Amino acid sequence: MKAPALTQAEQRITGRARLAGVLGWPVGHSRSPLLHNYWLRRYGVDGAYVPLPVKPEDFATAVQGLKAAGFRGANVTIPHKEAAYRIADVLDESARRAGAVNTLVFEADGSIRGLSTDGDGFVASLKAEGLKLARLDRHGGLAQPHALLLGAGGAARSIAAALQATGMRVSVTNRTRDRADALVEALPGLGVCPWEDWEKALGAYDLLVNTTSLGMEGGPDPAFCPSLKAAGRGLVVADIVYVPRKTPLLAEAERQGLQTLGGLGMLLHQARLGFLEWFGVNPEVDDATRDYVLRGGRS
Ligand code: ATR
Repeated sequence: MKAPALTQAEQRITGRARLAGVLGWPVGHSRSPLLHNYWLRRYGVDGAYVPLPVKPEDFATAVQGLKAAGFRGANVTIPHKEAAYRIADVLDESARRAGAVNTLVFEADGSIRGLSTDGDGFVASLKAEGLKLARLDRHGGLAQPHALLLGAGGAARSIAAALQATGMRVSVTNRTRDRADALVEALPGLGVCPWEDWEKALGAYDLLVNTTSLGMEGGPDPAFCPSLKAAGRGLVVADIVYVPRKTPLLAEAERQGLQTLGGLGMLLHQARLGFLEWFGVNPEVDDATRDYVLRGGRS
């Protein structure tokens, strides 16, 4: 039987294809294969990106195996981000700040470079949406904006570090105070707001970011919807949760006329850097990309 001709939308994988993938356990929920293969087709790159379900105890063996098999690198997701940090020979500034690695690059000299693109992905998404965090001081000049992060896990750390690097003041609030204090130790200059007080204190902030899984479908509390009554009119409310696209927190912010930012942008922007490293093209994050990933690849 004659094979059908390739259309422009189909993937071309030759013997010289560049390879990358995502290491996770489990990995079935990851949208990264969908996203990277969409970009590979769109830019006509001879390459493939595959899911790599790897148990924690097999992580180091798998990484060495991928390197030996000629892979260009891999994304790393839960629960491997700390192990990836340890296995990297060279850490980028972003990875050092975040204390974790979500992107591995296998260099031509055999070394492994580790990057953390989550925090920078969040900042890029904020900029791409054109959200302005402007706060005026008493004299009508521009004051340093202040961000409040809900949560003190790995996502909070990488976002806090990336926001600090932009010159913003950053505070965290967390149900378990010890974890918030540990974050301050890792990232000097960070402020802490007690978990019981943050809703009342919102007027002091220009950006609120939910870095927890509260509000996520299937998470610990999908209905999570704090009061935003104390917010100033200029507050930007961001959520890193992207399922559902509009979390109860974002819906409440919209009802109050506040600017909002959903989690999908961060997911797409954090992926850009890895794609550029492995496949040599800086892909665009636009509505077509967003729609494709949201539809789960169905046309
Ligand atoms: P990640 O590395 O993806 O950020 P994590 O390290 O498990 O994930 O962190 C999850 C964050 O969500 C933590 O800040 C956690 O708060 P605790 O440190 O108190 O556990 C927060 N979180 C999870 N479920 C929560 C809940 N029901 N109420 C409040 N905070 C919650």
